[in-house]
Amino acid sequence: MKQMINIALPKGRLGEKAYGILEAAGFECPSIKEESRKLIFENEEKGVRYFWVKPSDVVIYVERGAADIGIAGKDIILEYSPNIYELADLGIGKCRMAVAAKKDFYDRRDRTLRVATKFPNIARDFYNKQSREIDIIKLNGSIELAPILGLSDVIVDIVETGKTLYENNLEPKQDIVQISARLVANKASYKFKNKEIKEICEKVQNIIG
Ligand code: PRP
Repeated sequence: MKQMINIALPKGRLGEKAYGILEAAGFECPSIKEESRKLIFENEEKGVRYFWVKPSDVVIYVERGAADIGIAGKDIILEYSPNIYELADLGIGKCRMAVAAKKDFYDRRDRTLRVATKFPNIARDFYNKQSREIDIIKLNGSIELAPILGLSDVIVDIVETGKTLYENNLEPKQDIVQISARLVANKASYKFKNKEIKEICEKVQNIIG
């Protein structure tokens, strides 16, 4: 008998694109497109159950097995280092993690650098490798405000088009890592629901080419 696969999708534009790929791969669930506040959608015949979660929570659901598979950004994977499998790069949600600062920012390397970010582990790793002393200021959004208001010297954040930086008189100074969305799996699920998960992974890979 076919086992149901629980799939955590990140709420928002990336999740909708990711669902589009799964739908094209033959794992559609039409009720997901109906206007409602429901969070879980199931297509028993196809063996899939989708649910929407906060993008940064996908890896938590997958790591703990509440979801068998999910779609997570590489930024979230690098930040939380969850104990999960990364099965495929979906090639969507492409952006980069970068250091940015005010255009006229001059880095005095003899001073502790104040870094505002939603990604303290990625930032710490990056500066550790350069033996640079930093003071992390963990924020939860609108990171670009920090250097403008003098809360930090630089930010470590996602840059997609660069528009947010540009419109706030900031500029990227250094790239840290390229980011894209990944298909991830719970380790035990990958073992016990191997046939089903492999089938989804293969069909998804055929769609993304
Ligand atoms: C992300 C990121 C930047 C913006 C970059 O913000 O933190 O603010 O997107 O995109 P751009 O280079 O195309 O302008 P997000 O929408 O996730 O909101 P938040 O960080 O303020 O929560």
